[in-house]
Amino acid sequence: MATPHISAAPGDFAASVLMPGDPKRAERMAKLILDQPRLVTDVRAIMGFTGTYNGPGEHHGRPLSIMASGMGMPSIAIYATELFSSYGVERIVRVGTAGGISAAVSVGDVIIGTGAHTTSGMNELRIPGTHFSAVADFAMAAAAMRAAGDLPVFAGTVLSEDHFYFKVKGQMEALVAHGVLAVEMEAASLYAVAAELGKAALAVFTVSDHLTKASTDMSAEERETRFEGALRLAVAAAFA
Ligand code: HPA
Repeated sequence: MATPHISAAPGDFAASVLMPGDPKRAERMAKLILDQPRLVTDVRAIMGFTGTYNGPGEHHGRPLSIMASGMGMPSIAIYATELFSSYGVERIVRVGTAGGISAAVSVGDVIIGTGAHTTSGMNELRIPGTHFSAVADFAMAAAAMRAAGDLPVFAGTVLSEDHFYFKVKGQMEALVAHGVLAVEMEAASLYAVAAELGKAALAVFTVSDHLTKASTDMSAEERETRFEGALRLAVAAAFA
């Protein structure tokens, strides 16, 4: 049966789902890496596709879904909850962008989000009296790391924030001092929903901009190579 925000039929989703934020990106990814991608839902123009993985290697031919999450923690929590609870989904990999804050990372770098701090109150409600630790599934993170090969990747924590534009004074400096690599807007809630429902999740990011150091734009070719690298990691994690 369809859920309030997903119009797919039972069995329409694979056990593994890649989740970019942007529906257009979901469509482009589906055309790029799926054989016979089929649109299975488009409620609110949040498109979801299912096909079989067309890439090389051991995972070629395995069923894989790609669906957008929209922006922000409430949005990804809705879709992740419905996919995990009603469509038999076991693993979700967010494939997103993040703003670099650590001097160690640069625009174009790929980050495996091993854990996500958050400015959101969503996870405060989960375990009474407890600051929930939003962490990635270890097997998925390890699979992503193994798939990196000679692509330079970082593994570490990010901040999942509610505000894109409003910045709290002193927060960036304190985050950097605590080794946080980048900021984004979804991972902490995705990780918490997976924990709640006994499922697995990971977020892999391409650094799209940098908030604390001057950076030069990537060439179109560089952008594609880096994104394909992030996608390769995400697929490895999706099939972990
Ligand atoms: N904030 C949140 N998410 C982001 C940013 C940012 O500055 N850059 C890319 N994704």
